[in-house]
Amino acid sequence: MATLKSFACVLAALAAVGSAVPADHHQKRQQAPEAGFYVPSYYPAPYGGWVDDWKESYAKAKALVDRMTLAEKTNITGGTGIYMGRCNGNTGSALRVNFPQLCLNDAANGIRQTDNVTVFPNAITAGATFDKKLIYERGAAIGKEGRGKGVNIWLGPSVGPLGRKPKGGRNWEGFGSDPVLQGYGAYETIRGVQDQGVIATIKHLIGNEQEMYRMYNPFQYAYSANIDDRTLHEVYLWPFAEAVRAGVGAAMTAYNAVNGSASSHNPYLINGLLKDELGFQGFVMSDWISHMSGVASAIAGLDMDMPGDTQIPLFGSSFWMYELTRSTLNGSVPMDRLNDMATRIVAAWYKMGQDEGFPAVNFDTNSKTREAPLYPGAWPNSPTGVVNEFVQVQADHDVVARQVAQDGLTLLKNEDNLLPSPHRDPSSSSAPAQPPTPTAPTHAPIETVDYMYIDDPISAFRRRTDDVTFYNTDRFPSSARQQSEDDVAFVFITSDAGENSYTVEGNHGDRDASRLFAWHDGDRLVQDVAARYSNVVVVANTVGPLVLEAWHDLPSVKAVLIAHLPGQEGGESLTGVLYGDVSPNGHLPYSITFAEDDMPESVTRLIDSAFFNQPQDTYTEGLYIDYKWLNKAGIKARYAFGHGLSYTTFNYTATIEKVTQLTRTPPPRAPKEGILEYDQPIPAAAEAVAPAGFQMIWRLIYSWLSESDAQNAIRDGQTRQYPYPPGYTTTQREGPRAGGGEGGNPALYDTAYTLSVTVTNSGSEHSGKASVQAYLQFPEGIEYETPIIQLRDFEKTGELAPGESQTVQINLRRKDISVWDVVLQDWVVPEVDGAYKVWLGAASDDLSAVCHVDGLTCESNVAGPI
Ligand code: BGC
Repeated sequence: MATLKSFACVLAALAAVGSAVPADHHQKRQQAPEAGFYVPSYYPAPYGGWVDDWKESYAKAKALVDRMTLAEKTNITGGTGIYMGRCNGNTGSALRVNFPQLCLNDAANGIRQTDNVTVFPNAITAGATFDKKLIYERGAAIGKEGRGKGVNIWLGPSVGPLGRKPKGGRNWEGFGSDPVLQGYGAYETIRGVQDQGVIATIKHLIGNEQEMYRMYNPFQYAYSANIDDRTLHEVYLWPFAEAVRAGVGAAMTAYNAVNGSASSHNPYLINGLLKDELGFQGFVMSDWISHMSGVASAIAGLDMDMPGDTQIPLFGSSFWMYELTRSTLNGSVPMDRLNDMATRIVAAWYKMGQDEGFPAVNFDTNSKTREAPLYPGAWPNSPTGVVNEFVQVQADHDVVARQVAQDGLTLLKNEDNLLPSPHRDPSSSSAPAQPPTPTAPTHAPIETVDYMYIDDPISAFRRRTDDVTFYNTDRFPSSARQQSEDDVAFVFITSDAGENSYTVEGNHGDRDASRLFAWHDGDRLVQDVAARYSNVVVVANTVGPLVLEAWHDLPSVKAVLIAHLPGQEGGESLTGVLYGDVSPNGHLPYSITFAEDDMPESVTRLIDSAFFNQPQDTYTEGLYIDYKWLNKAGIKARYAFGHGLSYTTFNYTATIEKVTQLTRTPPPRAPKEGILEYDQPIPAAAEAVAPAGFQMIWRLIYSWLSESDAQNAIRDGQTRQYPYPPGYTTTQREGPRAGGGEGGNPALYDTAYTLSVTVTNSGSEHSGKASVQAYLQFPEGIEYETPIIQLRDFEKTGELAPGESQTVQINLRRKDISVWDVVLQDWVVPEVDGAYKVWLGAASDDLSAVCHVDGLTCESNVAGPI
């Protein structure tokens, strides 16, 4: 168990006795041993500013950057150091030209480490709503709170991890184990956040699918996620493409390596995939303390070093800031690269309109008091001042928070229609001791928000009935009152996960110790309650899949609900469904299997330390994760991806229409146009030196060099050359054929077919919302192997009364019906207008309507493909 601070101390002590990992390990492009996984050289870092939507912001940004000195440019690309400012990350500023210090702040479910904010449901809950509009509204509310607090850059959403490993520690920060669900989740969240003028950050690029051994340290390589090209494109990069398509202003690299090369200086990932193929116009930052190189990361395309320190933080040392000043003065990092970095950052700031009327930071993540040290990392030499102004930003965001919590609530089982139970008051409720109420993961303070209040289930029950008894315990209470036939017992169980910086109950971030079983002996508690009561409802607040078999089939366990991570609104959102005010309408954003090893070993096994070698996490399952694996292997899920019951039933009918005539490959991309001139001669040494008499804060990271260091850098540049990696060049490329706009070739997002799906509430008693999920099946006999079905789009209806209908639109874009061809390096429609089937329904194993692309016909009440 270690906080970041103590981690730093451990590293410092170890570093003193020497390191078994070569000092230059970060420079070496160590190839993954498995064949087919490699990092092609990809240079130089592509300039931004060629996408129409960004041109105006780039013009303004370039004009501002042109007025900056060298040290001002390097100051805005680096952090001032951990705990050296009020936010989770703080850049340097260029106040002389009115460019402020930027505030970067988490969390995954709101604004972290401050007061007067809303604890939103986590993204896994938002994903379970399968409701794009609601996901947008959650994002907009987070954006408003960020803006109100003065957060320039919100450090979310997360789509990496994607959820490949059911036990992975941070899956709950994303929207579910499917690239399309993650993709729309990210797209809507980013639009919501950025519509408020706050820059969103898509993270973590890429392959951070487990927490253990994610980070490099002087003794140990981080694991390498070895991902083949097709899987990378069709699964893991997919949601990043959607994020770029949404116009995301920032991206964060992952801690781990990909195909043998660390993500924060991986030229193929950053230069090649993100900036050139996906046409990303914003800036790329490192994850905290994962910056490992100076020149190497700059030429690999990194634009911002966060939080500024080397891997041994709090010593005032950095690979950038003053070192970046040095390496541009000596010519190792070309000036055009530095100008591009700075321009990307300033362009994102202009694009979100932060140059006018953006609130100043008014809170402090390091302290809760009004006055406190301004730079705690400079202890005991920090000046103090007013750091917290306690600005109220919650407004009415509890409404959207409650709606997401409610609409994410997923009813798995409801025997004898036990629920809703308006006529039976819940008369007994058992809950585990820790936590007594559903909360965000208890051991992941890094990614959660401080609770101002919590609407917990027991309070919500008590608002509806006096006849309720609450036991806050992990064991069946000996004091339990005499049970009667009419009693309903609600048992709350939980499963937690988080970042690897914290170990809780033996779990190292990932659920390595608890595995997929309930924490705090929750499975036994359910068994004990089920032995004594005739009507048992299990409510699971869980970060991801659980194995339910210890109690699922016990006769008295009649109903099972996954309440995911509801945030502060976990009470009324639950009782509203239990009492039948609304029908449940959440759907599983992952599959629940009968046994953990129903999934392949490559995803159930958590990669272990490989002593002084790099641990290898090889994606041998390829495209086949979650339901795609189960379907291929013919393994029935206990509850399939997308499953979720309602109190009513729905009927689906559809029509399909062709919108764009496709060709096998997309039309050629347009060339990049309108790129500004970034090159310039190396400036005079004076631009790198602090003004005379400037008082520096101890250990804060600055971009200035001493006069003699600056002169030496210029002299070095004339006599020595940086050992650039093979393939290094400074000549800008035209860009790959799969690129051409934000998200790739714009033609990839042309709508090929539109489906109008009419959903009718076929029940007679309850209203309800239906989820329309559309899964694509590729034509038989094509030259590419594809999963049997793949989610491609989804929509949620409004509340439908019995007998009422609504028509929603489902779109299939060119990319949705393409595969990534690794030879052509492009998206290919394997059979234009071929026998594609689009399966429609309420879950991946409940698809009762189908549309045929070849004949443009649809059928209802058919047997599904699974
Ligand atoms: C996490 C990031 C987070 C950053 C800043 C890191 O440990 O991996 O997701 O944004 O800290 O708090």
